[in-house]
Amino acid sequence: MTQNDIIKMFDDIANKYDFVNRIISFGIDKKWRRVAVKESLKFITHTNNLIIADVACGTGDMIKAWQDGLAHQPNQIIGVDPSKNMLNIAKYKFANVKFALGSATNLPFEDNSVDIISIAFGIRNVIDIKNAVKEFERVLKHNGIVVILEFTKETNPSYLRKIVDYYTNTILPKIGSYLSNNKQAYTYLPQSIQNFQTTDELIALFDNFTLKKLKKYNLNQVNIIVLQR
Ligand SMILES: C[S@@+](CC[C@H](N)C(=O)[O-])C[C@H]1O[C@@H](n2cnc3c(N)ncnc32)[C@H](O)[C@@H]1O
Repeated sequence: MTQNDIIKMFDDIANKYDFVNRIISFGIDKKWRRVAVKESLKFITHTNNLIIADVACGTGDMIKAWQDGLAHQPNQIIGVDPSKNMLNIAKYKFANVKFALGSATNLPFEDNSVDIISIAFGIRNVIDIKNAVKEFERVLKHNGIVVILEFTKETNPSYLRKIVDYYTNTILPKIGSYLSNNKQAYTYLPQSIQNFQTTDELIALFDNFTLKKLKKYNLNQVNIIVLQR
């Protein structure tokens, strides 16, 4: 799939995205986002007046996690996504947050201006990850944080992991296709995990960053990766 195909696919499923996501993930994705926020804030010296860019923000689930994690503290959260329809839903849900149409490889921020970049279940959809990493480096302040929440593939899966993968590769696409009426999108999900990097390969792309924290869930299928510039 090209980058434009991927963006169009998210445009097509935007109005069903939240509903389907809650069902196929059994709601545990909320906890992962909450932990991602908590872990990244450990490496930031202050927690007010932060500029936080949530890249691949989609309908805004990670923005909600930031708002909950930083309640009552004045911070600026900006959601960025190339899918107009996903962004429109996010705009409707978060009236006080700024949003911009944009890609991870072309962010609407000045050099050295952002404290934290989060990208939740988004980096797998970026075709040119190397350029996205360069872009993260450009916009982040010195000591700024990138927090990635993402599925990665396992080259040598355990027996239990094979069961988790069976759910992701076989059952999940069927439920997702049925609920969304979009077979392509929910076939793309397991395929994009299989075609994606391992955790180590993904971290290695951030060669000018320091790995601060790596947490794994779902028998290592889901990763929270905190990197510092
Ligand atoms: C699975 S959704 C994740 C949304 C949200 N972050 C969440 O946690 O639910 C993936 C998002 O990545 C976006 N996306 C696709 N290609 C992208 C790119 N090149 N740069 C930034 N975001 C991209 C899609 O439009 C979609 O909204």
